[in-house]
Amino acid sequence: MRKPVMAGNWKMYKTAGETAAFFQKFGPVVAGSSHAEIVICPAFVNVPAAVEAARSTSIEVGAQDVFWLKEGAYTGEVSAPMLAAAGCKWVIIGHSERRQYFGETDETVFKKTVAALEAELRPIVCVGERLEEREAGSTETVLATQCAGGIRGLSAEQFARIVIAYEPVWAIGTGKTATPEIAGAAHRFLREYLQARFGAEPAAACRILYGGSVKPDNIKGLMAQPDIDGALVGGASLDPASFAAIVNFG
Ligand code: PGA
Repeated sequence: MRKPVMAGNWKMYKTAGETAAFFQKFGPVVAGSSHAEIVICPAFVNVPAAVEAARSTSIEVGAQDVFWLKEGAYTGEVSAPMLAAAGCKWVIIGHSERRQYFGETDETVFKKTVAALEAELRPIVCVGERLEEREAGSTETVLATQCAGGIRGLSAEQFARIVIAYEPVWAIGTGKTATPEIAGAAHRFLREYLQARFGAEPAAACRILYGGSVKPDNIKGLMAQPDIDGALVGGASLDPASFAAIVNFG
């Protein structure tokens, strides 16, 4: 069966010192939690501190973005080989905040996903509709379009190594979680899409995470949905006790 992934997206929060302090508290509480893969995604600059703090734990470290070329004159960018060399195992790609504020498109999501896979990183590819799109009844069209541009071109071997995160934009950082039923329906739609593109078995093996105001008190209901395979957690992953409660939801 699909092993859940519980990933913390720290966004632009925490210094290196605060990163180390988080792991000191969080590490021992999740030491016995082998039911899920646990990932922390700090800001680029704190990847070394997180990798150091996660040493000799089963917690893995990811980045929040990546550029699609290996090297070159691209001021401010970070490449996949650089992340891998720094100890990252995962990378979030196409987060709605990158789409909204930094010009991320389905095309750049695809290029970044391929680059990440070439460097042996595990991409967490984010999709999700905005409030006006949901209200207009176009959620499924939006998800299909994002998947078509972002991952449809992957080979079967590449597809087997990605994780998808469904994050309705209206639920991110707003305290408005999608109900388990709303989230579950979107996950089911995504799995059907993946099945049509990649086949039944690969689609059944793909982990699809839910993200958007996941908290200790709503994780259990979300995880009870058959097509929800973990969570991408923003705000509630910043506090060691609350993220540990989400990881250990059962
Ligand atoms: P949130 O963020 O949990 O704070 O809503 C989720 C995300 O943006 O990945």
